[in-house]
Amino acid sequence: SVVEEHVSDMVGGERGEDEEYADVDWDNLGFSLVRTDYMYTTRSCSEGNFEHGCLSRYGNIELNPAAGILNYGQGLIEGMKAYRGEDDRVLLFRPELNAMRMKYGAERMCMHSPSVQQFIEGVKQTVLANKRWVPPPGKGSLYLRPLLFGGGASLGVAAASEYTFLVFGSPVKNYFKEGTSALNLYVEEVIPRAYIGGTGGVKAISNYGPVLEAMRRAKSRGFSDVLYLDAETGKNIEEVSASNIFLVKGNTIATPATNGTILDGITRKSIIEIALDLGYKVEERRVPVEELKEAEEVFCTGTAIGVASVGSITFQNTRTEYNVGDALVTQQLRSILVGIQTGSIQDTKDWVLQI
Ligand code: COI
Repeated sequence: SVVEEHVSDMVGGERGEDEEYADVDWDNLGFSLVRTDYMYTTRSCSEGNFEHGCLSRYGNIELNPAAGILNYGQGLIEGMKAYRGEDDRVLLFRPELNAMRMKYGAERMCMHSPSVQQFIEGVKQTVLANKRWVPPPGKGSLYLRPLLFGGGASLGVAAASEYTFLVFGSPVKNYFKEGTSALNLYVEEVIPRAYIGGTGGVKAISNYGPVLEAMRRAKSRGFSDVLYLDAETGKNIEEVSASNIFLVKGNTIATPATNGTILDGITRKSIIEIALDLGYKVEERRVPVEELKEAEEVFCTGTAIGVASVGSITFQNTRTEYNVGDALVTQQLRSILVGIQTGSIQDTKDWVLQI
């Protein structure tokens, strides 16, 4: 296509861009932003259709001060990862689910959204143009952040007239600074993450700012992250700041049901399917916080964090510890998921898209 030709003209224009790999310390990747070469942008017009998108140099963007995103929070994020397989293939995991979640979120937030095909095209182009930033096998992944936001100006409270879909990426490995060690979670009792009828079930940017205070408090006390309770009763667990949560007891795996307040995670959905295939009983239901005491294993799932073992949960000053060395169910589920994502386990479910 014209766009691809344009990119191949541009790639190699800067120092190092014709090298197979970017100059990155691949053994020490965490989850901080590493600038890559290109980003992808497309805009909608007032009829709601997105134009043909294009790549440009990664950099700052210009916004009207009255833009919907700045004034009224019309913004959605997505999170995905591109992996490099042993054979140098680059793989995306279930990208159509991210695309559909963005469409669903856009409806909730009165925004235009790209079609599933336009979404995947933007992600693919971003990955291909930044291929040298996709870590070598086993060293991490290229985390992709598709954004959708209201760019059109409006002074009064109203939906923006036009929207921008933008994709950028950054090479990453471990989300938490603790690396792969088990998470110590703190159950937050004052600040809820979501409420019935709100936007907890979609990836609205406005889901994250309001919980930073709870995260700051927990982190200052040495916890890895916060586990939120439902706003209605304060008795049931919901999710962690950037991940879903699962409890294992015997052959049963339980996770809070998605009822509009819990993010319908793609890793969550995939882990449920893998667990069912393996013969586990999976329960999606209300999970009372008290039940954490009886769990044999607890783990969190998310695109950014993967499948992370939980080592302890502190609720009302009582700390429940889990023996993560024996977390065999968590380890089994994680290794199958990662195997499929990285191409080392055959993808019998058509989950992986090679680009
Ligand atoms: C994810 O991509 O897993 C997320 O939940 C996004 C988060 C880092 C805000």
